[in-house]
Amino acid sequence: VHEEDNLWEKMRAVLPSPVFYLIEQIGSYGDRECVRVYLVGGLVRDLLLGIPNVDLDVVVEGDGLSFARVLAETFRAKISLHEKFSTATLYLPDGLKVDVATARTEYYEFPAALPVVETGSLKQDLYRRDFTINAMAVGLNQDTRGHLVDFFCGKSDLEQGIIKVLYNLSFVEDPTRIMRGIRFVHRYGFRMEPETKKFALQALEQGLMEKVSFSRLKEEFMLILHEENFALILENLKEMGLWERIFPEWTISEEVIKLLKEIPPTWSWVKEYLAPLDLNLVILLVLCHHCSEMQIRTLNEKFSWSKLYRSALEKISWNKERIFQELATNSLSPSGVFSLIGDLPAEAIVYLILVSDCRQRKVIRNYLEAKKNLFMHISGEDLKCLGVKPGPRMKQLLDRVRKERLDGNLISRADEMTYVKALIQRERGD
Ligand code: CTP
Repeated sequence: VHEEDNLWEKMRAVLPSPVFYLIEQIGSYGDRECVRVYLVGGLVRDLLLGIPNVDLDVVVEGDGLSFARVLAETFRAKISLHEKFSTATLYLPDGLKVDVATARTEYYEFPAALPVVETGSLKQDLYRRDFTINAMAVGLNQDTRGHLVDFFCGKSDLEQGIIKVLYNLSFVEDPTRIMRGIRFVHRYGFRMEPETKKFALQALEQGLMEKVSFSRLKEEFMLILHEENFALILENLKEMGLWERIFPEWTISEEVIKLLKEIPPTWSWVKEYLAPLDLNLVILLVLCHHCSEMQIRTLNEKFSWSKLYRSALEKISWNKERIFQELATNSLSPSGVFSLIGDLPAEAIVYLILVSDCRQRKVIRNYLEAKKNLFMHISGEDLKCLGVKPGPRMKQLLDRVRKERLDGNLISRADEMTYVKALIQRERGD
């Protein structure tokens, strides 16, 4: 091991101190328990890139499960054991998470199946991984502390920006690695090594992705949405013909790609008016741009989204034509826009902005501006004093006041009170 390949000081500098301290402790316990212990995977990759990562993946040459139990006791961590895979996850009281695995050789009984696990050495464990850049380890025992273990030229690929599989059947055994690979390409601005790309396309052509369970596909898909360059990743996977294979309900047209790319710049001004927002939901609304109501229902069922997601997707799908027609009419006041979109989730409004033409966009923006500057003087408390019980009717009354305020017809608290009292009286038939 060359001096430059000792990463200990780099770890101290890059990692948050509780993480570094924990790693140091894990190494000491490795010595005490007489097992070889290594840090592997994404953390090592990111460390070499100088990026802090707090996802601890530890590989043990020896009995990983017993070692995990010792660590759990020492750190008072909750432990969840996956005995079939000889792995365990520790959840520490301060929120840190450590995955502990027994160095293993895996084989797959048939393509896209879950692996069958046997114990083996670190080198074999690293070899079964997805890409060279993810197949490096750092020693944690006293005698190898900080030493980079790099059997497959991961460091050099990292320096050259190359995503490369370790063996030809990597995507056959785990086709979701295709999505992972493209995710890394755009996260780090890397490129996929030509042969690796060829293997990926072959696996897709062989229909292997369709064999993966929906829950794993969903998991990988959600990870893409969390990436800064989600639009480029989705576009790249479209070029590879992935989406029609796994989510045929989505038509990812050129228009959809353009809309996806417009999300970040739109996001940056819109969040001033509509925070807090769930970016994932905005992306999903855009992906469903061409979907019929029927397709939305199918997707909702397949993905079993939360109630918020379902309702946003359905509301937009049912109402968007009508909303666009009305937004296109010239005479829409801010209160008119409020009636049209006031009840939609903020993410659906962002979607409407993205899809709007200049004029419609201006109408929505004016409405958002008016709404932002609007300070209602009266509240539910005032209505309670006037004998209105909390519930839908109270909301209706407040909305009526809000609309008049938006259009500038009421100015002061006294104006609002007079108006709402008149409404209540009229409804009571006085
Ligand atoms: N891994 C793999 N094949 C997969 C998933 C994971 O070989 N399909 C290996 C890789 O070595 C990876 C490690 O398991 O580095 C940990 O996986 P995970 O935490 O999912 O990925 P990271 O590489 O840490 O990626 P990210 O930064 O997106 O969390």
